Amino acid sequence: MTMKVLVVGGGGREHAIACALSRSEEVVLLSVMPKHNPGIASLSSDVLIEKETNIPAVVDFAVSRGADYAVIGPEAPLEAGIVDRLEKRGIPCIGPILKAAMLETDKAFCREMMHRHGIAGCPHYRTFYHADDAIRFIRNYDGDLAIKPIGLTGGKGVRIMGEHLDREGAVAYVRSLEGRVVLEERLIGEEFTLQAFVDGKHIVPMPLVQDHKRAFEGDLGPNTGGMGAYSMPDHSLPFVTDSVRTQAFGIMKEVVKVMGESGTPYRGVLYGQFMNTARGPMVIEFNARFGDPEAMNVLSLLESDLSSIITRMISGSLSEKDVKFARKATVCKYIVPEGYPDAPRTGEPVVLGDNTPDTLLYYANVEEREGTLYTQSSRTLAFVGIGDTLDAAEHSAESAARSVKGRVRYRRDIGTAALLQKRISHMKELR
Ligand code: AMP
Ligand code: GLY
Repeated sequence: MTMKVLVVGGGGREHAIACALSRSEEVVLLSVMPKHNPGIASLSSDVLIEKETNIPAVVDFAVSRGADYAVIGPEAPLEAGIVDRLEKRGIPCIGPILKAAMLETDKAFCREMMHRHGIAGCPHYRTFYHADDAIRFIRNYDGDLAIKPIGLTGGKGVRIMGEHLDREGAVAYVRSLEGRVVLEERLIGEEFTLQAFVDGKHIVPMPLVQDHKRAFEGDLGPNTGGMGAYSMPDHSLPFVTDSVRTQAFGIMKEVVKVMGESGTPYRGVLYGQFMNTARGPMVIEFNARFGDPEAMNVLSLLESDLSSIITRMISGSLSEKDVKFARKATVCKYIVPEGYPDAPRTGEPVVLGDNTPDTLLYYANVEEREGTLYTQSSRTLAFVGIGDTLDAAEHSAESAARSVKGRVRYRRDIGTAALLQKRISHMKELR
């Protein structure tokens, strides 16, 4: 039976979603994106160029084209209530309703929910709505804090004392946010991402991935949306034990259970970002969607039919046997404009090399005019290498990335043995 599927969003993550859906012959793809993404457009039978947060326009498009269901890529339309509005018009969504999306869109809600229900992995935290109170807390706190604006910031709003800021810098930052912050203990460890398909009740995990938030090699420079990520053939990471992985998944199961019991069942992809610490996995945050770049790693490995998984999620009958991933390694490297994220060089031509036969290419924030690609202000495009070993996957992504010409850059160290060894040693030290 043919299914008309609407994909909302126009980045690398959504291109990966569109590719995975397009592997099914039964799927006809519709898409909404703020700017023409050549990768997604080439797979779509109908495209609406529109901001994803213009909910009436998206709903009109979905209804008039007869969409059977919708997959919501980014967080901004979730926060704007797109799922509630589409579902009201009879179009089920992969993505949570507004009240469940608060797990991501309201960091105070997330921490309070974890605390109230005694869910493991919640760091010590305090929520503030007035600058004076938050500043007093910072001045009296013995140690470093993570400073998190309560609302969405595109992954770039968190500042860590001892890393980005000193105490007075923290005070100034909190003042600039008018005091609406969550302040929490600074966690030390190694980060990993666990994403899962959730149908409201059942939860099925995907392979673990490690993202790289910092702009420059060696994890230096400002935070970005994510410069690239890798995953291993055994679907775990060498610095994550089975027990830690089980604990992290247990935390996510608990969250799904609590959301259901609270009358706001969670349906969609749940993204858990964890810090593996000396005292076990701690939750950095939850996202109410696939990660970007992490979606590109896992969806490139998905052997099951994404559309069938989604159908099961919608009927509430998802089970582990519906979801199979290839037991291979992936390395994703994002090509970004020179100067990204602080002062990206926009409108620069980007020329792809021709030595990329076995590497996947996902388009992100890129413009195509008369057959030439141009940078925009955000991440441009990504290469995903797949291999039997991390090394093979890294070589594939690296050679594709290296062959790109233009005023762009990428992180050469993502997926390399040297960086991996650094993570393993760091974790050993902490234990
Ligand atoms: P987020 O926007 O919540 O993903 O945070 C961005 C980055 O800030 C994370 O990837 C972590 O590296 C860092 N971070 C967030 N919370 C903490 C914390 N409590 N302790 C240490 N680092 C943190
Ligand atoms: N890669 C981090 C995120 O998607 O939020």
